[in-house]
Amino acid sequence: MSMLKLSGEAVDGLLCDALGRAERMADLHRDLAGVLSAGAVLRRDEPMSRRTTLRVGGPADVYVEPATEGDLGEALGLAMAHGVPVFVLGRGSNLLVRDGGLRALVVSLAQPAFARVERVEGRLRCGAGASLRQVALAARDAGLTGLEFLEGIPGSVGGALRMNAGAMGGWMFDVVETLRFMDAQGVVQEVPGAEAGAGYRECPMLRTHVALGAVLKGSPAGRAEIEARLADSNRKRWTSQPKQPSAGCTFKNPRPDLPAGRLIDELGLKGLRVGDAMVSDVHANFFVNLGRATAADVLELVRQVRERARLERGVELEAEVEIVGEEATAP
Ligand code: EPU
Repeated sequence: MSMLKLSGEAVDGLLCDALGRAERMADLHRDLAGVLSAGAVLRRDEPMSRRTTLRVGGPADVYVEPATEGDLGEALGLAMAHGVPVFVLGRGSNLLVRDGGLRALVVSLAQPAFARVERVEGRLRCGAGASLRQVALAARDAGLTGLEFLEGIPGSVGGALRMNAGAMGGWMFDVVETLRFMDAQGVVQEVPGAEAGAGYRECPMLRTHVALGAVLKGSPAGRAEIEARLADSNRKRWTSQPKQPSAGCTFKNPRPDLPAGRLIDELGLKGLRVGDAMVSDVHANFFVNLGRATAADVLELVRQVRERARLERGVELEAEVEIVGEEATAP
C-alpha cells in the first residue's frame, strides 16, 4: 500500500491559515457530495489509524472511496480546483501517518469497481484496489506460476505498483505486462510495464499519476506445484516476520549484502521500546505496535535506531515506510 502526492504542494510544508484550509476542505467536501455516484463513500476527519496496518495516525480532512473511474476523475479535478493535495491510499501497509493527520483529500480504491481480478488469455487483469493475496490465489486458480510471492505482501495491487513491492526474491514490476493509470486531469493511459521506470521500492511516475491496475503475467504450471510454492512463501513469512501490527520493513536495505534487519539485530536493538512501539524481536526491521503506540512513538524509535546505526556502524538508514502528515499540535 502506499500514498502519493498528486499536486506539487507538499503536505508537510503546507502554509495556509487554518480557517482558509477548513473552508477549502468544507467546499471540497460539499462539491464532492454533489457529484459522486451512489456507491461512493465520502467522509470528513477519517482516522488514519483505522486505515493503516501499523494502527497509528491522525485524521484525513476529507476521505473518499470513488465507486467508478468517473468519480475518481471528478475527485482529482475538484481537489485541484480547490488547491487541496491528493493522497492515494492502498491498504496502508507501508505507511506511517503522523498523529496530526493529513491536510489532504485521501483517496482509497477499495470499492469493487477498482478491485477486480479477471483472467484474460493466460494473464490476470487486476484492479489497483485488489489485494495481493487475492491476485496470488487467482493466479493459482488460473494455473499461472510466478506470482506466488505476492501472497505474502499485505498490500494492494496499487500500493505494490507504486512501491515496486518485493518479497521472496520476486518484484512487482517483474510480472507487470502493462500498467494502467490516470493522470491529475482524469485521463487514463496504459503503458508496457518495462516503460514505467520502476526501481528498488519505487515507481516514480506513480507519484504524480494514480495506478488503476495492471495486467500481470505468469507461466503455465500445475496446481500442485503452485500450491507448494504458495505454502513455502507463507511458511517463510510466518517464521521470519512478526504477527503484531506493523508497517512491514521500516528501512530500505542499505546494500544488497547488508539487510537493515540484520544490521539492527547486530546492534542489539531487538526489543527496544518507545511507548508501545517496539523493534520486533522476530525481525529487527519491523517496528511493531504493542497496542497504544502513537506515530510520535514510532518516529522516536526510528530516530534512535538511525542514530545507533550511524554512530556505531557509519550506516545511514533510509526509511522504506512512507512517512506523511502533520505532527499533532500540543493540547
Ligand atoms: N536478519 C537477521 N536478523 C533480523 C532480521 C533479518 O539476522 O532480525 C537476517 C536474515 O537472517 C537474513 C537477512 O537478514 O539473512 C535478510 O532478512 P530477510 O530474508 O527477512 O529479508 P529482508 O532483506 O530483511 C526483504 C524485504 C521484505 C520482504 C523480505 C522477504 C526490504 C527492505 N525488505 O527483507 O519486504 O518481505 O525480503 O523476501 O527489501 C517490506 O518491504 O516491508 C518487506 C517486509
